[in-house]
Amino acid sequence: MKAVILAGGSGTRLHPLTLVTNKHLLPVFNKPVIYYAIEKLVDAGITKIMVVTSPHHIDAFVKLLGSGQHFVPKTTNAKQIQIVYGIQNEPNGIAYGLFIAEDYIGDDNCVLFLGDNIFMDDIAPAVKKFKKGATVFLKKVPDPKRFGIAEMNKKGKIISLEEKPATPKSNLAVTGLYIYDNTVFDKVRKIPPSARGEYEITSVNSLYLEEGTLRPQVLKKEWFDIGNIESLHKASLFMKKRSHNDK
Ligand code: G1P
Repeated sequence: MKAVILAGGSGTRLHPLTLVTNKHLLPVFNKPVIYYAIEKLVDAGITKIMVVTSPHHIDAFVKLLGSGQHFVPKTTNAKQIQIVYGIQNEPNGIAYGLFIAEDYIGDDNCVLFLGDNIFMDDIAPAVKKFKKGATVFLKKVPDPKRFGIAEMNKKGKIISLEEKPATPKSNLAVTGLYIYDNTVFDKVRKIPPSARGEYEITSVNSLYLEEGTLRPQVLKKEWFDIGNIESLHKASLFMKKRSHNDK
């Protein structure tokens, strides 16, 4: 299993913090936002990661993360973490960002991680048991109009998916973490751009839903989507409290 972290975007809702820097480089308590994604993937045993970002910020990511060697955990036998970089020229959607990594992923399965999402759940069990199809991670939210939304039936199966619906059918957000088998790239090729001109990841997930191979996993712990100043601040406070509790 390899992973792709998407770290592009203009971060307009975080201006002026993101006027000269990329949102994934901002601090959440004592670490840049993107560290949380890398550490989560490394904890799940993933050692090969492509970070996809815009040409404007690629140099800052290379300076910060380098080859990835300083993410090698001291407590395990892992010898190498390899980070490589991909460039997304236009902000034309999450699915397109993933598509850039097609050659890098090769014949493997992949985790797609939106770099502005922070998860407290351990994702290792889901990564280990994954075989084929797609797994999406869901979380109840108070403001479902802001997210991709999944509707589940009583048996716990997803029956519909909608991207930022005006009248949400549930309050279960599809978070920015997905596990895909290798058919994902054929699916990205099939989807048309949405009304806002982007290749939406929800369209890709809908193809897995039609195929009957989309599995949900409901998150039990906190999830942060660093999209605005409130969520950035909330995540920082949470991490600060957590670090004090660890002492
Ligand atoms: C994206 C996805 C959306 C998902 C969200 C999670 O939205 O399009 O389906 O719920 O990430 O963070 P964005 O935050 O890019 O608007």
